[in-house]
Amino acid sequence: MHSGDIFVIQGGKPLRGSVTISGAKNAAVAILPATILAQGVCVIENVPQISDVQIMLEILQYLGAEVKSLNPHKYQIDTTHLRSQTVPQEMTKLLRASYYLIGAMLGRFGSAKVASPGGCDFGIRPIDQHLKGFELLGAEVSYEQNAIIEITADKLIGSQVYFDKVSVGATINVMLAAVKAEGLTVIENAAKEPHVVDLANFLNMMGADIWGAGTDTIKIRGNKPMRGCDYTIIPDQIEAGTYMIAAAATHGDVKVKNIISKHLESLTAKLKECGVQVEDGGDWCKVSAPNPFAGSHIKTGPHPGFPTDLQPQMTVLLSIASGNSSVTEGVWDNRFKYVGQLLLMGADISVNGQFASIEGVDALRSATIHADDLRAGAAMIIAGLVAQGVTRVEKVDHIDRGYEDVVEKFRKLGARIKRVSPEPARAASAG
Ligand code: EPU
Repeated sequence: MHSGDIFVIQGGKPLRGSVTISGAKNAAVAILPATILAQGVCVIENVPQISDVQIMLEILQYLGAEVKSLNPHKYQIDTTHLRSQTVPQEMTKLLRASYYLIGAMLGRFGSAKVASPGGCDFGIRPIDQHLKGFELLGAEVSYEQNAIIEITADKLIGSQVYFDKVSVGATINVMLAAVKAEGLTVIENAAKEPHVVDLANFLNMMGADIWGAGTDTIKIRGNKPMRGCDYTIIPDQIEAGTYMIAAAATHGDVKVKNIISKHLESLTAKLKECGVQVEDGGDWCKVSAPNPFAGSHIKTGPHPGFPTDLQPQMTVLLSIASGNSSVTEGVWDNRFKYVGQLLLMGADISVNGQFASIEGVDALRSATIHADDLRAGAAMIIAGLVAQGVTRVEKVDHIDRGYEDVVEKFRKLGARIKRVSPEPARAASAG
């Protein structure tokens, strides 16, 4: 993989066969820094091979963790000799989840100095709820936008933390610190995403005492001794959803394996509303769309609502559905930037703030497009698979952040897609 790689896609072929889903990115990027709290050896399995995970592992090594790859999806992480030190911007700007180092280091050392996090650009991404949570646990916070976030606490004390907005990041970060706070912490209006539950299960396996993860009230009895453990990360529901939508959009027939179908209920319901067939096997599902599908109206929201991280992919599907559809983005201020790329391909979409109105067109046409961010990038692949002709997708580094072996997985489903590196220069024709 090289920076500057592009994907070349010869579209118009239905996807067929089966695809196996990798471990969940957003669980992995929380669980890996959580090993800091173990002060011992953890073995983590089902770790996805994606660049966000590699960056997180590099940051842990920089902090003094010993990281050993036991196989491509299994890592042994020894955080015994970790030192608390500043995590510089060159590292934190590479991924949003770098802010989980704050909660984990605050819990372990009573202090953390971590530069502001990077991540996909969906407009303003505040961290006020994270910082409010740390302060309620007794920490002192010094923070200016785009600077080093410095947090110290003589002692963390359990507290009641009510979030003004449902936030995955704030829920996870406060849980990370609260397991080391004395007494009871109650998080109210907590996020309920599967990766929040996965992190709580991991922390409990290390010795923490957390109840209620997956509901909007999480209770943590802190200061329990924590030790290393073995843990297997859940499957990635967003990766699974991406392949489900791609199967439907190409009028294919695909079995998506290694999933927890319960995590995908909102997508499954919407696909069925569109007339797509979804067979639910619990840890697999089969998606087929032999006939034209109908439009639908989607509003994204926190789990169990329709995931914002499947919004761009679903917009591609709706752009070729019959009739009128709409998509309301209920989580991020600015997550429709990619629509401009779909307009180049002949989609009929008008965006007004966080609302997109879609008139289904018969077909998309190929174009040279780019990935604006990770999930928008996945949507561009689906658009390329649907379109007649050869589509080139640029800036695919964004996609590599969160999709393991994306080209190989789509090729196995019969897609005509290949990765082309800028050097040595060669003609880019799809195989
Ligand atoms: N918010 C605040 N204050 C805060 C934190 C969040 O106002 O202190 C707001 C945000 O501006 C947003 C909403 O709350 O409007 C939800 O943000 P959240 O904190 O839940 O998002 P996040 O933790 O930064 C995670 C995922 C995102 C995913 C969102 C929503 C990770 C590393 N990232 O981000 O995933 O879109 O939750 O589900 O878990 C992706 O994987 O492509 C991705 C962007």
